[in-house]
Order: sequence, then C-alpha cells, then structure tokens
Amino acid sequence: MIGSRRDWADLIGPEATDRVLGLLRPTLGRNTFPAVRLETNRLYIRHARPKDWKAWAALRRANREFLTPWEPTWPADAFSRRTFVRRLRRQLADWKADRGYSLLVFSRADDQLVGGVTLSAVRRGVAQMASMGYWVGEAFTRRGYMSEAAKSVLGFGFRQLGLHRIEAACLPNNEASRRLLLRVGFTEEGFAKAYLRINGSWRDHILFGMAREGFETLYPEPSGVSGVR
Ligand SMILES: CC(C)(COP(=O)(O)OP(=O)(O)OC[C@H]1O[C@@H](n2cnc3c(N)ncnc32)[C@H](O)[C@@H]1OP(=O)(O)O)[C@@H](O)C(=O)NCCC(=O)NCCS
Repeated sequence: MIGSRRDWADLIGPEATDRVLGLLRPTLGRNTFPAVRLETNRLYIRHARPKDWKAWAALRRANREFLTPWEPTWPADAFSRRTFVRRLRRQLADWKADRGYSLLVFSRADDQLVGGVTLSAVRRGVAQMASMGYWVGEAFTRRGYMSEAAKSVLGFGFRQLGLHRIEAACLPNNEASRRLLLRVGFTEEGFAKAYLRINGSWRDHILFGMAREGFETLYPEPSGVSGVR
C-alpha cells in the first residue's frame, strides 16, 4: 500500500504528486470518493453513488443487446443492488489505490444517466498511463455525448491525475467506437491479436493512443480555466 509523499513521488514523479494527493487525500482512510465532478456544455460526470443503482440498472438492462457485443461478459446477477454495491466498493478501492477511475455521465438538462467512462489499469513509474473505456445508452448515441464526455475525462486524466498517455482499444467492427476515438484526437497505433476477452471470447483489437502533448495541442487550457467542454 502506498503511504508517504515520497512513495508517491517515486511512483508518479514530483510534478504529479501534488495533484494526485490533493485529489485523493480527503478519501484516504475514509470510505468515500473524492468530490470530483466534471462539467461540459451538456453533461456532468462523477463517480457512481448507491442511489444511482436504479437508473444504472434500468439503462443497462434496456441496452443489453446494444452493449453486450462490445463488453466483457455480464455476470448473471448484473442488475441486482448487491452487485451494484459490490461494484462501488471495488471502484472506491481502485480510486484510493490510484488503480482506476470509474465515472458515470449525466445530462445536465434533466439529470438523466446517459452512460459511463472509466480510466482503468493506471500504470505509474515510467509509464504514467491508463486505458479508457466508455459506453452510452443507444437512445443517447450520435448526439456527440461521448465525444464531449471523453474529452473531459481525458482532461481529468492528463491534468488532474498527471497521466502522460491514455490508450483505448476497440474491436475492428466497432465503427462507432473507432470514429469516436478518431474524432476526439486519438491516433490509431496498431493491432493486437486476442487482446481482450469480450462477450466470452478473446478478440483481436485495434489499438489507439494519445499522449499529453497531443491533448494539450488539441485542447489548450486558457489561463487556468479548463479548455475542454
Ligand atoms: C461508441 C459509443 C460510446 C459512441 O457514443 P456516441 O455518444 O454515439 O458518440 P458521438 O455521438 O460522440 O460520436 C462520435 C463519432 O462516432 C460516430 N458514430 C456514433 N455512432 C455510430 C454508429 N453507430 N456507426 C458509425 N458511426 C457512429 C459519430 O458519427 C461520430 O463520428 P463523426 O464525428 O466522424 O461523425 C456508443 O456507440 C456505444 O456506447 N457503443 C456501445 C458500447 C461500446 O462500443 N463501447 C466501446 C467499446 S471499445
């Protein structure tokens, strides 16, 4: 378990230490997430809370056919409150250990849950990397929502978490995901055989990446205010 400032500085470098510790300090030793809330023109993005269970389960249930071809196999009790609470516990442990950051995306107009974005598999040391995953309900697709949410979460990853590189991968036939990644500024970098186990089988993936330098060129931060909306 990582404890002292020196442990953190060794892991993530002195520059990122203040940001990450500032973000995590309120939660270390406590059973709550930090109060992170990202806002874009039409959306707000925050970690899940127990009260989100009904909306989350309803959206996921209604989109089973739409989502399952692109995701790891869902557990048999995918929508139960118990499973949701277990997920939250795991997500909280991941935040506190700086392993992963799971976020839900809501519409600002009506507080409706529209989807989720996760930065997972955070690697510090010389890598300073994470992988990004995302989904929206089918009824919310093609409105630019995920482009808006993904840019904001990239900003969170690069600027608040001090990451230097964010990766994503999609199935070769996932045209929506591929176009989303290109639209927000990822570069297609390669192809990985049997990369992830999706919907029950090991599937080849197209690999994408973005480095912080590329992000800052695309979305410069105007004097202290987030340039990402
Ligand atoms: C991938 C996904 C998150 C995109 O969300 P979205 O909110 O519709 O994306 P946006 O509206 O911001 O659009 C982004 C780009 O994708 C394109 N796009 C979206 N849906 C598309 C589809 N069904 N077919 C082709 N292109 C599509 C948009 O046209 C846009 O590209 P453009 O600017 O070149 O026109 C959504 O389709 C989804 O949740 N899919 C199922 C889960 C999934 O695939 N997750 C990713 C696993 S790698």
